Amino acid sequence: MQNSVSEFLRLRQDADDGLLLRLLSEEPQDDTALYEAADAVRRTWYGDAVYLRGLIEFTNYCKNDCYYCGIRHGNTRAQRYRLTADEILDCAAEGYRLGYRTFVLQGGEDPYYTDERLCEIVSALHREHPDCAVTLSVGEKPRESYQAYFDAGARRYLLRHETADAAHYGRLHPASMSLENRKRCLFDLKEIGYQVGSGFMIGSPYQTPECLLRDIRFLQQLCPDMIGVGPYLTHPDTPFAGMPSGDLKRGLRILSMLRLLFPKALIPATTAFGTVAPDGRELALKAGANVVMPNLSPVRVRKLYSLYENKICTGEEAAECRGCLERRIASAGYQAVTSVGDPAGSAR
Ligand code: 5AD
Ligand code: FES
Repeated sequence: MQNSVSEFLRLRQDADDGLLLRLLSEEPQDDTALYEAADAVRRTWYGDAVYLRGLIEFTNYCKNDCYYCGIRHGNTRAQRYRLTADEILDCAAEGYRLGYRTFVLQGGEDPYYTDERLCEIVSALHREHPDCAVTLSVGEKPRESYQAYFDAGARRYLLRHETADAAHYGRLHPASMSLENRKRCLFDLKEIGYQVGSGFMIGSPYQTPECLLRDIRFLQQLCPDMIGVGPYLTHPDTPFAGMPSGDLKRGLRILSMLRLLFPKALIPATTAFGTVAPDGRELALKAGANVVMPNLSPVRVRKLYSLYENKICTGEEAAECRGCLERRIASAGYQAVTSVGDPAGSAR
């Protein structure tokens, strides 16, 4: 990619459909200039800080049947688990000892965790760690449920839109799910006052450059605080088994474009990047990412939260992950930071 295009994106923080489509369709060759421009922008707002979020994957039961996902309801080979409230609080306590000040509770859409149960867990976390931020990632819910979690103390919510093209959405999900409802959830969350994270997979089956353009335009409309992207990775026990996984270079290109278009966003170097390449997360950091989400779940359940094949960090204790990540972040030229880490310029 030419220097001039990177500069243009950096200065304008936007581009017309034609330029974006060209960047989204051509085969990425040498994108060094793009990564460097993205890195310069992230340094303007965040310096060399990389925020750490402790991730607790507390249930792999899911009532949904997304075609790409290894914990989909229809995967009868998945061995299911749930963590008790005490187990969740123990993970958080261990995370707190390791310095984490943000906890992300992520799970499938599991009806066992009623609003009442979830609110109890969120309140307990909030009570035990008043100086920490609680993030939820538990899927699509009615607005009242989101409000109840907020009232219990949750302040951030992660819900990727997955694809902003309705026809593509229909090819990735069964008819019981819709892009319309997904968007409704995201706008409800924003209105309630959450810091919202959205995002999409890169290289998912049937994705076209036009789909990706729509993803960008949708994000511009939503203005999320966090943007999570990562390559699609195939899982053998899904209807998409055998579909090719996403590509690292295209993933990095899109990640740096997102940094240039959303200068202040919190963008994680996701586990999916670390799974497509051994140094994938380091490369994502150098291409504009500024968050990593190490796993705090008990090691005995780690392998079971298998959204895709060969997921990394499934054998390491929380403390090992912490050390490993700190080294990786330093080797990429950044500094791990454990503070609450709000978005730059956020009024909240
Ligand atoms: N490959 C990559 N990412 C996936 N996710 C789910 N399944 C896969 C997969 N096979 C992502 C989705 C979801 C997030 C938690 O993980 O984008 O929102
Ligand atoms: Fe988990 Fe390296 S980050 S082992």
